[in-house]
Amino acid sequence: MKVAFITGITGQDGSYLTEFLLEKDYQVWGLIRRTSNINTRRIEHLYENNNLILKYGDLSDSTNLLHIMCEIKQKESFELLEVYNLAAMSHVKVSFEMPEYTADTTGVGVLRLLDAIRSSGLTDKCKFYQASSSELYGMVQEVPQTETTPFHPRSPYGVAKLYGYWITKNYREAYGMFASNGILFNHESSRRGPTFITRKITRGLRMILTGERDRLIVGNLDAKRDWGHAKDYVEGMWKILQHDTPDDFVLSTNEFHSVREFIEKSFKMKGIDIEWNGEGLNEVGIDKNSGRVLIYVSDKYFRPAEVDELLGDSTKARTLLNWKPKYDFNMLIKEMVESDCDVNFNYYS
Ligand code: NAP
Ligand code: GDD
Repeated sequence: MKVAFITGITGQDGSYLTEFLLEKDYQVWGLIRRTSNINTRRIEHLYENNNLILKYGDLSDSTNLLHIMCEIKQKESFELLEVYNLAAMSHVKVSFEMPEYTADTTGVGVLRLLDAIRSSGLTDKCKFYQASSSELYGMVQEVPQTETTPFHPRSPYGVAKLYGYWITKNYREAYGMFASNGILFNHESSRRGPTFITRKITRGLRMILTGERDRLIVGNLDAKRDWGHAKDYVEGMWKILQHDTPDDFVLSTNEFHSVREFIEKSFKMKGIDIEWNGEGLNEVGIDKNSGRVLIYVSDKYFRPAEVDELLGDSTKARTLLNWKPKYDFNMLIKEMVESDCDVNFNYYS
């Protein structure tokens, strides 16, 4: 029996990874948080699958994590358990408002999980994946960024992820654990959380088209990101754990685009040509045909320290893991716009 444990199973990546592993006949255990409202929408379509087992817990609760690891060990028979640590307070802007909580869950949470594996006697029977991030590069020290590029995180989130990256490496070196980091550049989808910029744009477009809203208000239009599709990236996570040895890998598309360009292409898909006018906080995006102002800029969405541009070089993963993204930038935007603006699109397909 192939068995996996996923933290962050209710998130964007967690939901795609669960589908991917269930299709490969894994027994998937997932950690969900108790909330006062439903937080399992992204995985509800998988509930009928008997190979999916959900446990309540939180990365801030070490006894809970230890208990779950012991339960998996006791109930399942496996040669190697795959643990994917995807749980995190993952919003960069929010991390400036909740720095201590972010450090506790996104940073120290990684240690709690690694130590639960060790304390339950699973060190040699477990492969561990840590969801590291291109936010580690922050103020980039070279372009493009590879596994050897020095880190310079620019947010409490980035700093917490730096701890997660190093404690993963440390457990590999100190205890011989199969523990790997995936340093993933931004990846999006129709399941992306609505406050990340790509989804904010495609949802905002829908609201403008339906008349629910008359404008989209954003922050830094010139930020550039290396945007891929989450489906490609969860396959990469799995490939990282199938490699002969534990190691750290960048996953990226190797091209970057600006927020401005993402807006232009999304609106163009619905027949709206955006023309830019003005500068800084006074810049606006105008619908060329009607002359209506549709895009505004507000400093409310600026960050105390910004990451201006991220561009990955995933040659190592492409060479050693035979990983390559199938989606390109245009395909990603098409899926996201269709999903948000076309009622017939199946959110979970
Ligand atoms: P996401 O959609 O925000 O999902 C985060 C998941 O973590 C959710 O399931 C959330 O649960 C859970 N979570 C949050 N705090 C928790 C806690 N204290 N204890 C247990 N679970 C907790 O994030 P994502 O985009 O799927 O990203 C997955 C991971 O990859 C994250 O660690 C993220 O930082 C990292 N990453 C993402 C990207 C990207 O571009 N997407 C790039 C690099 C790295 P609820 O559903 O209950 O909130
Ligand atoms: N969220 C948001 N909202 N971002 C905006 C906005 C806005 O209104 N306007 C401009 N931006 C800019 C941000 O300033 C940033 O430069 C860029 O758009 C991307 O922002 P997000 O989509 O929030 O993602 P992120 O790059 O900060 O973080 C994501 O990617 C990381 C990997 O590099 C998250 O998924 C992190 O968890 C992940 O580690």
